[in-house]
Amino acid sequence: MEQETILILDFGGQYKQLIARRVRECRVYSEILPHTTPIEALRARAPRGIILTGGPNSVYDPASPLCSPELFALGVPVLGICYGAQLMAHVLGGQVAPADTSEYGGTDLCIDRADSPLLADVPPQTTCWMSHTDRIMAVPPGFAVTAHTPDCPVAAMEDGARKLYAVQFHPEVAHTPEGAAMLRRFVREVCGCQGTWQMASFVEEQVKALRAQIGTKRVLLALSGGVDSSVTAALLSRAVGKQLTCVFVDHGLLRKNEGEQVKAIFGPGGGFDLDFVGVDARARFFAALQGVTDPERKRKIIGEQFIHTFEETANGLGEIHFFAQGTIYPDVVESGAGSDGAVIKSHHNVGGLPKGIRFEGIVEPLRMLFKDEVRQLGLELGLPRALVYRQPFPGPGLGVRIVGEVTPEKVCMVQEADAIFQEELQRFGIDTGAGQFFAALTNLRSVGVMGDHRTYEYAVALRAVLTSDYMTATAARLPYDLLDTCMTRIVNTVPGVNRVLYDLTSKPPATIELE
Ligand code: XMP
Repeated sequence: MEQETILILDFGGQYKQLIARRVRECRVYSEILPHTTPIEALRARAPRGIILTGGPNSVYDPASPLCSPELFALGVPVLGICYGAQLMAHVLGGQVAPADTSEYGGTDLCIDRADSPLLADVPPQTTCWMSHTDRIMAVPPGFAVTAHTPDCPVAAMEDGARKLYAVQFHPEVAHTPEGAAMLRRFVREVCGCQGTWQMASFVEEQVKALRAQIGTKRVLLALSGGVDSSVTAALLSRAVGKQLTCVFVDHGLLRKNEGEQVKAIFGPGGGFDLDFVGVDARARFFAALQGVTDPERKRKIIGEQFIHTFEETANGLGEIHFFAQGTIYPDVVESGAGSDGAVIKSHHNVGGLPKGIRFEGIVEPLRMLFKDEVRQLGLELGLPRALVYRQPFPGPGLGVRIVGEVTPEKVCMVQEADAIFQEELQRFGIDTGAGQFFAALTNLRSVGVMGDHRTYEYAVALRAVLTSDYMTATAARLPYDLLDTCMTRIVNTVPGVNRVLYDLTSKPPATIELE
């Protein structure tokens, strides 16, 4: 079946990814392309609709990104948002001018035309999220005003005959309560999409595409056990079976039992058809980390050891042609590449492609998916829920959850304390999907009394933060009983620990990890 696609032309708007997500929530495939994409290339993609994003520019500024009038004559429905709306007005003969009053934030929206295909079912008075200085003063010939706000005479306009629509506000953000419905109406009603994009068909298409790309050659994947690399492994295994070699490096800094879990899922007998190479590099990492206390040095050493271990292992595997990576769509968009640009995911820890091995090409089957879609795909491919919904875990692992020198004994303390914390969080029914919840080991030792003995041991810090973007975070208000139970269990059962603290610090000023 032909794939329904909505193309999103990027004029520099900060919400472009959100627009793409909203479209995909309607089960229609969407892709963000640079605004410079030639008309012919757009036509070749046979999109069902095109959305123009917002952007920081003013259409009258000579340096601003423009678009060709041909865009509006492709016979494909177009929706302009914010700058995209002004651009549509400007290019088609309307008038755009700076407003006396800029509008930012929640604004009352009055619907003028209830028969607008985009605005049908929207109550006559609602709110929308505005963020603009320029505004449309006169609509182009053929257009009608379909909504306004107190300071914006043209909050929405359309030319139904040509299927051209424009909104000054941002329908993609949650602060426009009717916005998702408007986008849905654009995608389904105006563009006529059925909503056929789903994971089962994605798997089928990708398996075909991967087989075409890889042929009978071999692929190498660095499997960390994280969501992205695990889903990449599962998908490649479905496509090319034993032509895929997964190298899993156990650096000794994983969460409790994590190495065993990865082996149980992907190793021999685990149900995935692939060539699994597990490397026990624990001794090597601990030796390299001995005596090192500086946090940056630790990260660097872990990264370097990882690359060396990986390269040495890969060089012993015979000729391998492709290198697979779990790059996902936000990585591609953040790095600024268009859909054809080659992007290499640079983990702080892995540092991109291993430089000591030569490859013919890169395989990145997840590069068009958002994180929640990657998770859905993982479930579709039969990965366990616990892995698919795993909490984020830094590449340098427990190395950045142990303040000061990293030793096998300290790793053991933090693993045990963390396992207890996770168990109790689950028992108390806390939703850990909304953030990062873990135990860390401080470098603080203090005197305690256990039985009749004085002790001089370490303090564990429990960290539980709520965050949506990992750029900022606040401490979760965990139930006191949960904290109390963790304290008792940890000091009673984890050797070397005699104190448990709860870290209340937000980010900023702290970071999520302890160092
Ligand atoms: P911070 O500590 O900066 O962490 O508040 C923000 C997010 O990034 C994760 N993190 C890392 N991930 N390699 C990674 O792959 C690293 O070196 C690293 N350091 C922090 C952290 O777990 C959180 O999700």
